[in-house]
Amino acid sequence: MTGFDDTTWRCGPPPRKGQFQRFPSRFWFNFNKFYSQFFEYVKGDEVILAEGMRVLNMFSGSLTWGDTTDFRSESGAKIVAPYDDLPILSNTYDLVVADPSYADFFHKQWSQDTKDHPIPKRILVEAARVTKPGGLIAILHIILIRPWKEANVKCIARHPVFAGENNVIRCLNVFRKKG
Ligand SMILES: C[S@@+](CC[C@H](N)C(=O)[O-])C[C@H]1O[C@@H](n2cnc3c(N)ncnc32)[C@H](O)[C@@H]1O
Repeated sequence: MTGFDDTTWRCGPPPRKGQFQRFPSRFWFNFNKFYSQFFEYVKGDEVILAEGMRVLNMFSGSLTWGDTTDFRSESGAKIVAPYDDLPILSNTYDLVVADPSYADFFHKQWSQDTKDHPIPKRILVEAARVTKPGGLIAILHIILIRPWKEANVKCIARHPVFAGENNVIRCLNVFRKKG
């Protein structure tokens, strides 16, 4: 895709038996549909990466695919570290995905020690550092994240993510690292 992409993703919950399917798909299904070069197989949260693709899964929580990183050791993440100081060499990944806690009230579910939720600019700058030139960074948030100069990225897509009538709308901010 060459132009700027602002396609809305509908990600309602999967239907129960006999229930009307309100939305055609879920989050990783959409991700695979738009950025299929990174994946071999996607079903629900189950993901198999395409051969040779190096993917960092930031704020991984319960997710287990790719190189997972989270600051809670109980999450089972491969790399247990704060999001803005990752023990990872620069220019390592083809894709970095990030699903941070985006508000203080939500963040308290995960941590009583650090009361502030992760700062979008710092997420982008650190994610961009570990991404290879030409690689992609995809950050799910409730705000539009600017392509901060310090990150050396271009914003190539913003997907409004609609997750159901009683849920907040989110935005998947997608950047390409320059270079
Ligand atoms: C919205 S949840 C991620 C949920 C995940 N995508 C899933 O499906 O399970 C946010 C995650 O960010 C992690 N987190 C919050 N603050 C962090 C920080 N300062 N550094 C690293 N990880 C952090 C939390 O431990 C939590 O697992």
